[in-house]
Amino acid sequence: MDTSGAQEYDRLQELKTSDETKAGVKGLVDSGLQKIPKIFVRPAEELAKDLNYKRAQIEAPVIDLGDLEKTHRHKQIVEEDVEEKKKYYTRDNTRRVRFNSNFDLFTSRTSSWRDTLAISFSDPDQINSDDLPDLCRKSVIEYSKLVNNLGNILFGLLSEALGHEPEHLRNMDCSEGHRLSCHYYLACPESELTLGTAKHSDPGFLTILLQNQIDSLQIFFQNQWVDVQPIPGAFVINIGDLLQLVSDGKFTSNKHRVVANRLGPRISIACFFSGPIHMDKIFYGPIKELISEENPPEYKEVLLSDYIMKFITTGLDENFLVNYFKG
Ligand code: OGA
Ligand code: NI
Repeated sequence: MDTSGAQEYDRLQELKTSDETKAGVKGLVDSGLQKIPKIFVRPAEELAKDLNYKRAQIEAPVIDLGDLEKTHRHKQIVEEDVEEKKKYYTRDNTRRVRFNSNFDLFTSRTSSWRDTLAISFSDPDQINSDDLPDLCRKSVIEYSKLVNNLGNILFGLLSEALGHEPEHLRNMDCSEGHRLSCHYYLACPESELTLGTAKHSDPGFLTILLQNQIDSLQIFFQNQWVDVQPIPGAFVINIGDLLQLVSDGKFTSNKHRVVANRLGPRISIACFFSGPIHMDKIFYGPIKELISEENPPEYKEVLLSDYIMKFITTGLDENFLVNYFKG
């Protein structure tokens, strides 16, 4: 008898029940549980595979931007009341402020031990602050502006690295709008069975990540998972799949994940630059100057809205997005 259908049904029920609490992983932890619910437990073969990876201590390369402009250490988003959070609980991606636990809850193989408040900024100069939560409105707006400035500096440097004028990537609207994902990774009683964020590469152009002192971020490098130690005052910068696509593979995105931890909470704020938030028929493809008859393009042109939809409807731990757009 095929029991997989029945198991799937149970899982769906559990997912729905969890989602309907609108309280996320924090709600579970607050209920005092000692064992994590089944929806968070990674498949046995996946856990076994992980045992083969050594935990290597290789330091991520550090780039000191001190001379360009002082980086700013931002105070962490304050913890909010659960009723306040429920007002923002949604899976509607058109909403500007979204609180939920696992944006890919219904598409991923395993749920991750994480709650997230995501906020989209389409135009940093015209922020309508009314719809932002009271508790973090001021800090979110201030942080958005600072991180936007840093993003522009980085896009300038990356353009130059491609042999272009500093404005090149900015003129392609790569830094037009961004999304802040404020992740809250609670201490997990069975951290070895689950993950904080499943393995993935970031779909956009560039990510600027701020993390607190609890190290759980890992990058897949030379066939092993390497810890990315938090450095006070430093951001982690990830190249995303879209930058790989427009640079036609000159820059490559990196695979990373967040392990669950018995310590917590770990707090991180990821700022994603994924092109204009209002996705009116904007196409991205390999930069023309980078391709020629001798160097045919490796990637296809994509309609940004199709690309983002592909990301939203695919679980994080599935394929790497850029692979769908190989030429
Ligand atoms: C992400 C991500 C890492 C972290 O949000 O894409 O990789 O440390 N986050 O929270
Ligand atoms: Ni990421």
